[in-house]
Amino acid sequence: MTTTTPSAIGQPLDRVDGRPKVTGHARYSAEIPVPDTAYAYVVGSRIAAGRVTDIDVSAARAEEGVLAVLTHRNLPRIAEQPPLIPSLAGTAAPGQTFFPMQDDTVHYAGQQIAVVIADTWERAQHAARLVRVSYAESTPVTTLDQGRDDTYVPEKIFGGWIPGRIERGDVAAGLAEADVLVDGTFTYAANNHNPIEPACTTAQWEGDELLLYDTTQGVNATQMTVSRLLGLPMSKIRVMGHYVGGSFGCKAMIHAHSALAAMAAREVGRPVKLVLTREQMFTSVGHREEQEQHLTMGATRDGRLTAIRHHKLSPTSHFDDWAEPSIGVSSEIYACPNYEGVYRLFRANTMTPTFMRAPGEASGMYALECSMDELAHELGMDPVELRLRNYTDVDAMSGRPWSSSGQRECYERGARRFGWAGRDPRPGTRREGNWLIGTGMAAACYPVAPPANPQRARARLYADGTAVVQAATPDFGTGVATVMTQVAAEGLGVSVDRCRFENGDTDLPNIAAAVGSAGAGMISAAVHAAATGLREQLIKRAVTDPRSPLHGADTVDVVVRDGVMIAGTATDAYTELLQRNFQPDAEASGQWSPPSGDVPYGMMTFGAQFAEVAVDAELGLVRVRRMTGAFAPGRVLNARTARSQLTGGMLWGLGQALLEANYMNPDTGRWVNSNLGEYLVAVNADAPDVDVELIEVEDSIVNPLGVKGVGEIGQVGAAAAIANAVHHATGRRVRKLPITIEDLL
Ligand code: MOS
Repeated sequence: MTTTTPSAIGQPLDRVDGRPKVTGHARYSAEIPVPDTAYAYVVGSRIAAGRVTDIDVSAARAEEGVLAVLTHRNLPRIAEQPPLIPSLAGTAAPGQTFFPMQDDTVHYAGQQIAVVIADTWERAQHAARLVRVSYAESTPVTTLDQGRDDTYVPEKIFGGWIPGRIERGDVAAGLAEADVLVDGTFTYAANNHNPIEPACTTAQWEGDELLLYDTTQGVNATQMTVSRLLGLPMSKIRVMGHYVGGSFGCKAMIHAHSALAAMAAREVGRPVKLVLTREQMFTSVGHREEQEQHLTMGATRDGRLTAIRHHKLSPTSHFDDWAEPSIGVSSEIYACPNYEGVYRLFRANTMTPTFMRAPGEASGMYALECSMDELAHELGMDPVELRLRNYTDVDAMSGRPWSSSGQRECYERGARRFGWAGRDPRPGTRREGNWLIGTGMAAACYPVAPPANPQRARARLYADGTAVVQAATPDFGTGVATVMTQVAAEGLGVSVDRCRFENGDTDLPNIAAAVGSAGAGMISAAVHAAATGLREQLIKRAVTDPRSPLHGADTVDVVVRDGVMIAGTATDAYTELLQRNFQPDAEASGQWSPPSGDVPYGMMTFGAQFAEVAVDAELGLVRVRRMTGAFAPGRVLNARTARSQLTGGMLWGLGQALLEANYMNPDTGRWVNSNLGEYLVAVNADAPDVDVELIEVEDSIVNPLGVKGVGEIGQVGAAAAIANAVHHATGRRVRKLPITIEDLL
């Protein structure tokens, strides 16, 4: 027995939700039993562009068990379409500004055109097949090749958060003065998120009050979005989502099914459960857009960047100017006087694309870091050295110093762990039998994006010494509930096994949607505020309690260990204090106000990626043999969950590099892949040894605990490191994702 409580923060605590999840006791949103539930099945448009000229629901309606069929003819009109704003802002956050079934227009294949509600899922599904739809079809535009001649530069993208064009200096002059130029066009297939738990909402009305069980990254975001769409006061909507089976960004915004479930439940006067099928997941919750990035880079002979021009072309929907912000990081992380970044969009017959796993950074850093590798090769300079030479300790776009960096340490320690030193830079020189072996590296970075509004949490300590700490946030598999238990325990001064984190419910204090790797930082800040606030309250109570051994002590002299307040030799336990005073519990709320947009710092998480590949010289097969990532994510709240996040992110990067792709059939405007059999993701057989090094940097700017986030940076740069290793192995520069066998034959 130790007499001190070791710091709870940072310990590799097992997941608090691990046992219920692996034993099947965890109830996901669609598994929560609601008596008398009816089932909704969505009918999607077969065409990608045009109008519904007739929709005959009589056969469907006549089937046994069918309660209603909703179409644009009888679905109530929405009260108001809220604007598209990223859910981190803490406002309503629809996935797009088009709500289906308000008129007969079809903008994209799979667009909801009917909802069949029946007493069983099977009956709803069967009846849905009997809905007869006639269309007036026009020619869809969905692919880059179809849209590239009719583009525009939007004023803003990404829900109005990011300008369509950014520049500094004079790029033409910078390129003209360069000794070496590299220039490449990078193409990317579209990606879909595909969490194992599909999107689902169960809606239950009690009078004019609505309860939703929703699988989401932000219950408050669902509450606000549905409130605006239905014209229902927020006070009448409660949203719960206790377990979420993955998301990857497709549950970051609130897509139409959540409100449709509520509308369906009102129509039939019963609770309604709406679960999207796997196929519908490809057309109903956003995707990462197909894109092309053109990057030109100039440097002096000694490897100093003189200019970067980074242009992106991608399709967006007919109603929103969305592009994932691929261009941001290339403007920020290297010292380079001249920069130009431009987004070009064209209107396409798809739904609005959305956040997906390092939205923007994962694709932008592929172009940037493959170009840096090419530049290093042209200069005859080591790729790590080239990056160190262009290191900047200020955000190169804003000129503001980084709140913290760690980038150099990531290069150095990552390189050491990987065994980078002594690498023969010549491509195609290492061979093992039929396999060509190569190594590559890339920088990683991901912005630290604070939410726009205050985040809140509540802490309660019971007289028996157990504690509950609460915040609305769901845990969508990242480990939030586990790490917040640690943050709460440390703040309160109790052991983690006495502390429980309760979450996933709008009746609990507000937290913005956990997106953009912001969750750990913002939630820990609120939980820390609540827990330390309660500790201070209890200490103050003790020193003013005449019956306390601590009576009269100075509060600043009191420390708390294992629920015991200590001042010198005097001690008083929380339990004794509360019991003595007939208090069943004590409670405090905590609030954290994030740094506002005018904080004079650049806030970025940094890392470095290294990969070794083997390429079969005859078959073009690429095997990733090992990966090393070194990351500086600020304070690490739990070494195990952080490592797990980063390992997972690196494996997404492997999938991005070699496997994940979806394509539009240009004739039909429909995705060619709509199931997990054909949409390839990395499985255990693809996964190499993944080595993660955590470099702790202190940061007093981003939030009280200095947490910069680990959710997405693991992916950033991983695909570039792999592509650079493929070049090193083969001498082939593939500027396309995913890299497939055909590219290497
Ligand atoms: Mo994350 S893709 O920003 O939800």
